[in-house]
Amino acid sequence: MTDRPIPSLLQLTPINEEFRVDPHVLLDDLRTRCPVHKDPMSGSVVFSRYADVRGIVNDRTLWRDPMRAEEGAFLNRGLVADVDPNLPRSSTTSILMLDDPDHGRVRQPLAQALYARVAKFRGEVERIVDESLDALEGQAEFDLMDRFCVPIPIDVIASILGVDRGMLAQFRQWSEDLIQALNPFRNPEQTKAMEIASTALATYFTDSMADRRVSPKDDLITDMVTLQAEGAELSDDELRINLIALLVGGNLTTTDLIGNAVRLLLLNPDELAKLKADPGIINGLVEEVLRYEPPVDITGRVASSDRELGGCPIKQGQALMVSLRAANRDPEVYDDPHRFNVTRKHKPHVAFGGGSHICIGAPLARLEAQVALVKLFQRFPDLKLARPEETPEWRKLPFFRGMERLEVLAQ
Ligand code: HEM
Repeated sequence: MTDRPIPSLLQLTPINEEFRVDPHVLLDDLRTRCPVHKDPMSGSVVFSRYADVRGIVNDRTLWRDPMRAEEGAFLNRGLVADVDPNLPRSSTTSILMLDDPDHGRVRQPLAQALYARVAKFRGEVERIVDESLDALEGQAEFDLMDRFCVPIPIDVIASILGVDRGMLAQFRQWSEDLIQALNPFRNPEQTKAMEIASTALATYFTDSMADRRVSPKDDLITDMVTLQAEGAELSDDELRINLIALLVGGNLTTTDLIGNAVRLLLLNPDELAKLKADPGIINGLVEEVLRYEPPVDITGRVASSDRELGGCPIKQGQALMVSLRAANRDPEVYDDPHRFNVTRKHKPHVAFGGGSHICIGAPLARLEAQVALVKLFQRFPDLKLARPEETPEWRKLPFFRGMERLEVLAQ
């Protein structure tokens, strides 16, 4: 193990079978031997210790926009290769890759409206989860990803935004196609599907915003055009791009949180028994799933000045990649880090990143997972993996961890 080469960022993605099967063999080795790794393949510096990762995501003086990375930062620059540098950046990216002052200006009203909606959405999430469970009644064996983990997040975010429920399957497809924007290794076919989805969603949201100005509804699109009319400094382009980001950002990730949680609980019956005995532990349980099997592998920043990070000299413009997955299993922070323990003493994980870019959808993702898991095991207390001996088929999308399928037996 010790004389193998330090893995490149590409090897730390599910394209690499070894990483797919157990990412922690490579990540533990990386954190131990080279916790600050200048990776020639991606042109970035990869951090894997919790202290460094936490420090970087929380540091509001760092940049986020990959366009500000040096030319040699191949991976970052690849993400923005097609962006027209003459357009204002806030009309070509969502808040995900925006820097201040635009980031704060756009995120503030969006967060205000989203958080207010999420705070009163528990009843609607419960209704959507119940409806998915009702549809499974009487079935002996089914694919939980397809029937439960995939539909719930798209149904919930569609309901918050107020998009047409008759088009849920179409939104799911567009959302899956558009997430390829974050895949630097996408093939031409995936790029084409991504472009089609992008155009279709832009048209849909442009029409929806115009519609809400004439006929307001009880939904987030109406909240946002109202804030805009009341003086929030947001252009139509900015609004549209960020509404689409909410639709896309929350789907795959929340699907994977629920799917990864169910698999872990079925593989660890003693931990599942704790939930059955006391559903009140659900909040801590979801945090442990986020720590142990986070849906997103990495996030990034760009050095805004020459400085030292993790004990290494860093130059302005260097791309900084932080492994959220490695940080969440750092033995310096977590006792027995590779043990899945749903009543673990809480120490904040980094699954949602941090600082000014911390995931805006975190409260919603938590709510959905909490409701979905409690209700699933109440309705199907004898749920089992249909083929527990089989390694799951992990999706091959870089920087995300989730399963293609999760076959279960209802009793
Ligand atoms: C378990 C589910 C989720 C996970 C693990 C997750 C993870 C993340 C991570 C790691 C970031 C980058 C944070 C950083 O760089 O510091 C992020 C940002 C973001 N997420 Fe999520 N996310 C989840 C759910 C959602 C949901 C439900 C939504 C939408 C409703 C959403 C929308 C966004 C947006 C718009 C950003 C950009 C925020 C910014 O840069 O200011 N995410 N998420």
